[in-house]
Amino acid sequence: MLSKSLEKALNEQINFEYYSAYTYLAMAAYAEDIDFSGAANFFTIQAEEELSHAKKIYDYVNQKGGRVKLEGIEKPRFEYEGLVNIFEEGLKHEQEVTKRIYKIADLALEEKEHATISFLKWFIDEQVEEEESFTNLVKKIKRAGENEANLYMIDDELATRTFVPPTKDSL
Ligand SMILES: [Fe+2]
Repeated sequence: MLSKSLEKALNEQINFEYYSAYTYLAMAAYAEDIDFSGAANFFTIQAEEELSHAKKIYDYVNQKGGRVKLEGIEKPRFEYEGLVNIFEEGLKHEQEVTKRIYKIADLALEEKEHATISFLKWFIDEQVEEEESFTNLVKKIKRAGENEANLYMIDDELATRTFVPPTKDSL
């Protein structure tokens, strides 16, 4: 059984994961618009990952006998200030996700809800990777600076990212 407060927190996180997917898809569209199709691919896959995170929490709430409640998804930002900016905003977004996951983990700890503490461990580890990946990309793109050839090399690398559907173990 999930307490009402934990059920509410997990439902809010489902919504935030969908909002994350929307945000990254908006960034993908922006990257496409400024002719960085590799970056657009990177953010499209990031969006797919967020959808899988939302579904993972959705399944968990059901598994624990809770009730999933879907809410409206906030409109994502439309305009950005260039390639570095979308990665910087991506990093900020992931830092916000980490904060939110920690808050839910704090609540689960308070309630001594061990199953949920264990469930959230996957998300806590995932956030370490997400923040690291965005931090590295911001650095790399900043280093490339105004050099178009370097930027397009990075874009080519970003074009190779593929979506690996999480297996039952990793998910
Ligand atoms: Fe996520």
